Amino acid sequence: MRAVQITAFGEPSVLSVAELPDPVPGPGQITIDVSHAAVGLIDVFMRQGLFGDRPGLPRPPFVPGLEVAGTVRELGEGVTGFAIGEPVVSMSATGAGGYASISVADTALVASTQRYGIDPAVAVAVVPNAAMAHVALTRVAHLAEGESVLVQGALGGFSAAFPGIARRLGAARVVGTVRRGKLAAAAVTKLPYDTIVDSADLSGALGEEKFDVIVDPVGGDVRTHSLALLKAGGRLIVAGNAGGDWSHQVDTNQLWLTGTTVAGFNAGAYLPAHPQVVRPALEAALAAVAAGLGETEIDVLPFAEAVTAHERMERREPVGRIVLVPGEDSGRARLSAA
Ligand SMILES: NC(=O)c1ccc[n+]([C@@H]2O[C@H](COP(=O)([O-])OP(=O)(O)OC[C@H]3O[C@@H](n4cnc5c(N)ncnc54)[C@H](OP(=O)(O)O)[C@@H]3O)[C@@H](O)[C@H]2O)c1
Repeated sequence: MRAVQITAFGEPSVLSVAELPDPVPGPGQITIDVSHAAVGLIDVFMRQGLFGDRPGLPRPPFVPGLEVAGTVRELGEGVTGFAIGEPVVSMSATGAGGYASISVADTALVASTQRYGIDPAVAVAVVPNAAMAHVALTRVAHLAEGESVLVQGALGGFSAAFPGIARRLGAARVVGTVRRGKLAAAAVTKLPYDTIVDSADLSGALGEEKFDVIVDPVGGDVRTHSLALLKAGGRLIVAGNAGGDWSHQVDTNQLWLTGTTVAGFNAGAYLPAHPQVVRPALEAALAAVAAGLGETEIDVLPFAEAVTAHERMERREPVGRIVLVPGEDSGRARLSAA
């Protein structure tokens, strides 16, 4: 198979296209002929070696990538419910293996897109993240109908999956924040936010408004501001650290005094312990995306431009997601989920 490998921890230039042996599915697994592989900030962190010594995470050489879309290639022992050639989207259990023309997936983490007719670029860009948003909002934040939600970094790959799911769960108001440089993109997004405001001027834009649930994959000062924007009884979902402040601290006595909750959510830790939540979350995500609630921007690049993709992630250029395709001569396209 053709794949993009990380040959050593380091700069984007450690990514290179290689021919590797075709994988075969184990029991309970399928292989997928990959048409699209999503690029996430977590891939950048893993390439940089930020989590290099954590048990269970891959070390070089490895193929990065957590999410793929394509068609079922081969069924492993005991697999039922999937047919060869069926269009699917998948999350990875291992944090690796996505940037490849053939990917192995546990069927528990795979959903068929056949019934929904979703474009595979859109499916891979939005469905896995929307499934995680569903888990985070239902199981971690316990979002109730009529509540309000604030999403930090509103147009980021992971954040963009939240407003559609929050709407489907009955949120009464969904507000996003972006940095000033993304305000123009925020003005034209089709994502179902009520409003998107400048994260540097929250009080100017929101006055005294506070929120029942805040989603924060950014961290640092944004996390500190998030804590101050929670209603009593509000829940902050700590869902990432895109801003790169690894020393941020929370004062637990303030949580007591303000009557607020901070909950961490990381799919890699949560899902293996609660596998029963994956299937309903994937179904909810597919339905939300099919209903047009995941209309994020998607840039499509060939595997050969994986270095460019990571450089663009590091420069914080994308407004939405970058998706890689295995073909050598695939051009560039800009799609939006419609
Ligand atoms: N919990 C989970 O299961 C899960 C799943 C997926 C991702 N994640 C995590 O979520 C985080 C984001 O991942 P992603 O793939 O969505 O990345 P992404 O597409 O690059 O989005 C990052 C977002 O964070 C914003 N941001 C970055 N630095 C910032 C700063 N200093 N101040 C304010 N905003 C800032 C960006 O805004 P600009 O565009 O203005 O730079 C962008 O909206 C990562 O930490 C990733 O590991 C977690």
